[in-house]
Amino acid sequence: MKIFLDTADVSEIRRAAEAGLIDGVTTNPSLMAKVAGDRDPKELFLEICNAVDGPISAEVVAVDAAQMISEGKRLAALHDNIVVKLPLTEDGLRTCRALTSEGIRTNVTLCFSAPQALLAAKAGASYISPFIGRLDDIGHDGMDLIAEIRQVYDNYGIMTEILAASIRHPQHVVQALMIGADCGTMPPKVLYQLLKHPLTDRGLEAFLADWNAKVGKEL
Ligand code: G3P
Repeated sequence: MKIFLDTADVSEIRRAAEAGLIDGVTTNPSLMAKVAGDRDPKELFLEICNAVDGPISAEVVAVDAAQMISEGKRLAALHDNIVVKLPLTEDGLRTCRALTSEGIRTNVTLCFSAPQALLAAKAGASYISPFIGRLDDIGHDGMDLIAEIRQVYDNYGIMTEILAASIRHPQHVVQALMIGADCGTMPPKVLYQLLKHPLTDRGLEAFLADWNAKVGKEL
């Protein structure tokens, strides 16, 4: 499963990319708004693209298809790594079809049902982003949606990649891995929670204590 970092914070992105932990980045207008300030958002997207050599999802903010298509083309022209992120609306899917026919990669976001995921795939989406945590928030099991979409896409040989989004904790990642999601996007906090295990820390501490007690030399 590809791991994407769900943030627009360039220092977090560099840290994870330099450690080889991530395959790409996803952003959304809320994440961009947190860090963009007065900066030109396009510059920020470029900075992110230069920090990670992988798919970088950049979301349109227009709501009608004509404007979304123009925004999408402008975003895609910024850098080869850009994947244009589009909302799962009729206009979003029209835009998806138009951009796909020009060879531009798309990530259709705000997916909350398997039929929505099917329609996005028909419109040519490269990625579909089902939101797990936001379904959990309203008392559903968000992971059921990942499993349903996996089944639908496998039943019909659909190649759109399932990008599990709105991941809130490591267990979401484990479940997405077991179901076979193609990608998962998570905030930095969850990425580093995946890395940590108390037995790893305890084991390393014991190895070094034994070494220092008997040998104590650098290698
Ligand atoms: O990028 C979309 C998604 O991952 C948002 O997550 O935590 O705001 O529901 P969240």
